Amino acid sequence: MDLSSNCKPSRLFGCHLTSVTCKCLAFVTIALFFRAILLHSFSGYGVVEWNNLDLISRPLLLNSDDGIRREKFVEVPQIVWGLNNQKIAFARSCLTARMLNRTLLMPSLSASLFYKEIDRLKPISFDKVFQFEKFNSLCNGFVRLGRYSDLKNQTGIYDLQKGSGRKWTVERDLEQLKQSSKGPVDKHEVIRFVGKNPFLWHDHWPVKDYARVFECLVLVDEIAKEADKVVSKIRQIGRKLRIKTEAVQNNFDAEVSSLPPAPYVAVHMRVEIDWMIHCKKLEQRSGISQICSSKQEIMERVGNIARLESPTVVYLAVADSLLNDSSILGGWKKGLLLFEKKKLAVDGIYKKHPYLIQSAIDYEVCSRADIFVGNSFSTFSSLIVLERTQKMIRMGITSTCDIDVRWPSYAYNVPGELNRPKKWMTNMSDASLKAISYGSNAISC
Ligand SMILES: *[C@@H]1O[C@H](CO)[C@@H](O)[C@H](O)[C@H]1NC(C)=O
Ligand SMILES: *[C@@H]1O[C@H](CO)[C@@H](O)[C@H](O)[C@H]1NC(C)=O
Ligand SMILES: *[C@@H]1O[C@H](CO)[C@@H](O)[C@H](O)[C@H]1NC(C)=O
Ligand SMILES: *[C@@H]1O[C@H](CO)[C@@H](O)[C@H](O)[C@H]1NC(C)=O
Repeated sequence: MDLSSNCKPSRLFGCHLTSVTCKCLAFVTIALFFRAILLHSFSGYGVVEWNNLDLISRPLLLNSDDGIRREKFVEVPQIVWGLNNQKIAFARSCLTARMLNRTLLMPSLSASLFYKEIDRLKPISFDKVFQFEKFNSLCNGFVRLGRYSDLKNQTGIYDLQKGSGRKWTVERDLEQLKQSSKGPVDKHEVIRFVGKNPFLWHDHWPVKDYARVFECLVLVDEIAKEADKVVSKIRQIGRKLRIKTEAVQNNFDAEVSSLPPAPYVAVHMRVEIDWMIHCKKLEQRSGISQICSSKQEIMERVGNIARLESPTVVYLAVADSLLNDSSILGGWKKGLLLFEKKKLAVDGIYKKHPYLIQSAIDYEVCSRADIFVGNSFSTFSSLIVLERTQKMIRMGITSTCDIDVRWPSYAYNVPGELNRPKKWMTNMSDASLKAISYGSNAISC
């Protein structure tokens, strides 16, 4: 094939958008460019904002609706618990609907974090947190969300009682789903799942299916803007510090606007009392000693990460109960400048919102960090690493373990060489999300 007839170098960007060859070439060029940037090690220059990658890192849209029926629905109860558990339960609902070849009626999430007091769970509509249309366009052909107004209310609702307890095995659960996908049950317009928390449903899907759903979750603008504010505040501080350092070194006043935004490290630091009690129990029960890391251990290991430039801003994602504990900000390696939301003076941004949104903002701040360090036994950390791994894979980098990549992730609870935290990436071939999200020190590096 003669490429030059379609895309002469001189008119590479002038060629018609309808030309498939040109589109491919442009795509490959952009991909190679970003790949080159991705392989750079941590440095103060050439920060590529996470968001700018979305253009090319999103999956190419599929045109077909691949069999998800638009007139048959699945309804699930309000989704509860922490942000991560809600995301997992939501993805599980989507994948259940997909298995039944049905559209999922847009569920309610929970704005507050109460485990037992059902009346205080404050339902919040999915589309108050994530973009509805965007979800359907990104997940087109894979899973589909519908609205209650789409219902024709003609063929009725079938209540599908989910079992619970020890006798309700994975096999029985799967068998029930299979039965519901045909025969008389399938005639109903709506299959409504009833029973205890959908979060307790058994897992029948591989990690990559979950990743595919998570990728379609894009925060609504209002919340995304709040996360942007926090991220730019962190980068601004880093920039000012660098300007000061350069000015001292070079003995001149550096031009503020000439420096690019600075990179930052985010550490999801779990050392609050509730977690410590939980993880000590877990260590005893599982016989694994690498679950709980002390404050001291986290500080040391993060400080040992190779190639951290000085000064570097470190954002600590910590529980609110630690915000008044000044000891978490002290004792770090020289050159690391520690902030949490209070010291950053962004706690006002968080306080305006309920628990779920606060958590979603922190999630964004961590997942966009140039370096992320978390605990492999935390679902929050695990989902962040899953997203970061997924983005790297979309860029064509299949293993981030042995090479310097642009957005590395580490687990501080697993020691690596020279008492560094161990590099961490998600094993996308795992057969169930359970393998990676509910406590594991298998971090595939
Ligand atoms: C799903 O439904 C569509 C539309 O009715 C149909 O074409 C397709 O074969 C169904 N797929 C499965 C797996 O049942
Ligand atoms: C069907 O019922 C739902 C919920 O009761 C309602 O919101 C919807 O408007 C109804 N649809 C039609 C077409 O009557
Ligand atoms: C921290 O201290 C301030 C003032 O002493 C108090 O108002 C606030 O409630 C405390 N916050 C937490 C999370 O303990
Ligand atoms: C990833 O998971 C697959 C399937 O469980 C397994 O065969 C493989 O060894 C794992 N890879 C790593 C690097 O842990």
